[in-house]
Amino acid sequence: METTQRHIIDEEVQWDKTKTIVSKTDVYGTILYANDVFSKTCEYSTIELVGEPHNIIRHPDMPKVAFKVLWDALKKGENFHAIVKNLTRTGRYYWVITDFTIDKDESGNIVGYTARRKSVPSGVVKKIEPIYKTLLEIEKLKGEKASEMYFEAYLKEEAGKTYNEFVVDLFNEELSKEEAEKIKSETSSLKKGLNWFFFGETDPK
Ligand SMILES: Cc1cc2nc3c(=O)[nH]c(=O)nc-3n(C[C@H](O)[C@H](O)[C@H](O)COP(=O)(O)O)c2cc1C
Repeated sequence: METTQRHIIDEEVQWDKTKTIVSKTDVYGTILYANDVFSKTCEYSTIELVGEPHNIIRHPDMPKVAFKVLWDALKKGENFHAIVKNLTRTGRYYWVITDFTIDKDESGNIVGYTARRKSVPSGVVKKIEPIYKTLLEIEKLKGEKASEMYFEAYLKEEAGKTYNEFVVDLFNEELSKEEAEKIKSETSSLKKGLNWFFFGETDPK
């Protein structure tokens, strides 16, 4: 299936932001399952998506390093959160916060991954977009390694946290007052993670 050189339209696709976009992959990122919200949002049918690599919806505005950090965490068996700009069939985009979980068999071997995505508040996009833009520029002009090192140094110096912690905190900071109140009642937003958001749980397991 054609995955590259799609015409890019600088326009957000309309989608039901109250819903969760779900996909499951094998260990290589090949799509095994896509829910209806996913197929409606990205404008491909489920049948078209199944068996395709997940980069079918990769947006050219996303820096490579964001996916490197993701894969490093997944291969280590760590659950992960990422803020991703995705590309639809017609070249439109949608921003999501993604909760990645590891799927294991009875013996504990990693057999695949599940991604659950929710819409992100525009405040989060405003903060992450310039960082991704800088990383992409570094990638183009100085190479992937330089971008990776810059990102590592940026997180260490300016945020003092890992990318996963950075995403969770950034997201929690931008929540509405009502939601922020819920978090305050918990010990700390970081410890709490985003389980409550994706699964409606208040206590991380
Ligand atoms: C469960 C799972 C979900 C993924 N979801 C997305 C996604 O929504 N958008 C995306 O661009 N990449 C997603 N990826 C990462 C892709 O596999 C791929 O690494 C990325 O699109 C970059 O493409 P490239 O590796 O060909 O550079 C996902 C990977 C996994 C394992």
